[in-house]
Amino acid sequence: MLLEIEDLSVSFRNDEGEVNAAAVDVSLKLDRGEILGIVGESGSGKSSVSMSVARLLPSPPAFYPKGRILLDGVDTLTMPLADLRRIRGKKIGVIFQDPMGSLSPLHRIGDQLVETILLHEEMSKKAAEAMALEWLGKVGIPDPIVRAKAYPHELSGGMQQRVMIAMGLMLGPDLVIADEPTTALDVTIQAQVLKLMKQLHQSNSGVLLITHDLGVVSQMATKLAVMKDGRVVETSDDPSAFFEMPEHPYSQGLVSEAKRMELES
Ligand SMILES: Nc1ncnc2c1ncn2[C@@H]1O[C@H](COP(=O)(O)OP(=O)(O)O)[C@@H](O)[C@H]1O
Ligand SMILES: [Mg+2]
Repeated sequence: MLLEIEDLSVSFRNDEGEVNAAAVDVSLKLDRGEILGIVGESGSGKSSVSMSVARLLPSPPAFYPKGRILLDGVDTLTMPLADLRRIRGKKIGVIFQDPMGSLSPLHRIGDQLVETILLHEEMSKKAAEAMALEWLGKVGIPDPIVRAKAYPHELSGGMQQRVMIAMGLMLGPDLVIADEPTTALDVTIQAQVLKLMKQLHQSNSGVLLITHDLGVVSQMATKLAVMKDGRVVETSDDPSAFFEMPEHPYSQGLVSEAKRMELES
């Protein structure tokens, strides 16, 4: 199994010492070749769980009262930081909502991509530069040669998002964690990016796809989990059956709301 999240609880402790349980007893499994969609309203704990997989939550305030996160059998919550750094990018590719959190403001985007490639792959600088340009093109950035020289703040939010997507996908990670990867993008680019993610999973990666957009889940996911108030309230290995007949009342609400919005649009 690529990823096994077992009884994971994630909490945050604030300055007053009060504890907020963001995720409680979450168990999820993801194998190679699968796309696991996690849906649920804002604040339901989706990002807390997904960021924990690569141990990317600031700790403190985050801590783990309980649980394990096994990536190919090794617990990412307890593995040495040096090992974790090696697998971030190469074995785990992450795409988060906030591109500026993942890009360095001080370096040109082309250089950032090249640096990441060279950190993990044995290839010449020239080959890495060619690969970076190729990926900027793949995620729909026009004029890659020109844009590669830009600093992140010189790009629009949508363009920054695409750079981050290139960063997350280009090394062909075993596990892709995508948290609302396309929410800020227009429909055409969204479709292009989702297609890239689909290709990756067909090449035997596992994808953890977090989105509030049930349309994206129904297009993409091979299995899904619904979260509410930090807990997984329903899982399904058959998304089309789920959309026909969700079991949990909360899921029923989500699905009928999504269908209503689709009718309106
Ligand atoms: N860095 C943080 N510090 C403190 N509390 C946080 C932090 N990140 C998330 N939380 C809290 O954890 C809960 C779950 O949030 P989150 O995992 O972001 O949900 P979702 O991704 O589903 O919107 C919320 O109550 C949120 O306020
Ligand atoms: Mg979130």
